[in-house]
Amino acid sequence: RKKVIIDCDPGIDDSLALMLALASPELDVLGITTVAGNVPSDLGAKNALKILAHCHQLKIPVYRGADRPLKRDYVSAQDTHGNDGLGQSKLPEIHKNYHSNACEFINETLRKEQDVTLIALGPLTNIALAHQKDPKAWQNCTRFVSMGGNFKSFGNCSPVAEYNYWCDPEAAAYCFEHLPVKLEMIGLDVTRKMLFTPNILELIYQNAPKEAEFIQKITRFYFDFHWQYEKVIGCVINDPLAVLYAIFPELCAGFDANTQIVTSGIALGQSIVDEKNFWHRSPNSHVLVKVDALKAMQLFLARTCGLDPE
Ligand code: BDR
Ligand code: CA
Repeated sequence: RKKVIIDCDPGIDDSLALMLALASPELDVLGITTVAGNVPSDLGAKNALKILAHCHQLKIPVYRGADRPLKRDYVSAQDTHGNDGLGQSKLPEIHKNYHSNACEFINETLRKEQDVTLIALGPLTNIALAHQKDPKAWQNCTRFVSMGGNFKSFGNCSPVAEYNYWCDPEAAAYCFEHLPVKLEMIGLDVTRKMLFTPNILELIYQNAPKEAEFIQKITRFYFDFHWQYEKVIGCVINDPLAVLYAIFPELCAGFDANTQIVTSGIALGQSIVDEKNFWHRSPNSHVLVKVDALKAMQLFLARTCGLDPE
């Protein structure tokens, strides 16, 4: 099984991604770390515990990480995910403690395990801090998959910037520049294709009503947000695609390129992908631009709700 650490900010779609990872036999989830993103990192850690409890996997440790971006003020996305980060779902509190020191956990794990894949579903603050503290440990990181950025698609925080990179652009810029592996960027170009619709929810209700109820509780707020601001029926679930891609790379297609993150001015947080190699810099990323979205959604439903993909 692939050893993975999931760094996240749950978050509605982060929660769906965690459910997917926990239900995937290909993955051995060594730990979950949380970062200031959709919600503050302590709330994210509590939410991760709620998802672990729902999936009966509370033995997986949760570590709280950075409570603010590297260099700038922290802006949460509670307008999108609800004050509680789980769509005002009022899931019961879990009486188990999370740990602090996400970065230490990441580095310690990298030091003692071989072949670890890091999947980042939020701003890259924890990752940048961990690497700054012990770059050598990162030699054992075989893959780094990050949901964030965009290639040609429009942004969701500004005309050009996606939230995870916009929230902490310095951390994102650091990771593209310094990690010893190519950053596999699952950006909005591909994740926007993952539209979770009321029809899909109805399908789950018919086959797995308990799961449907749980998913509906946490996605209702997201449905409303998408309708109100984008007139989209349903909601885009970005983060699960990063987990799916980590397991099944053939689901997405892309190319190697040098990518830079804008850290000042009007395009703050934008990911600029040098597809045509104008800069003559070596590729620091693998940028995913195409996805078999139907297959991806089928796999998501099979894993999280037991729906037969055939
Ligand atoms: C990303 O931002 C967050 O709101 C989501 O959880 C996802 O990780 C999409 O831009
Ligand atoms: Ca996220």
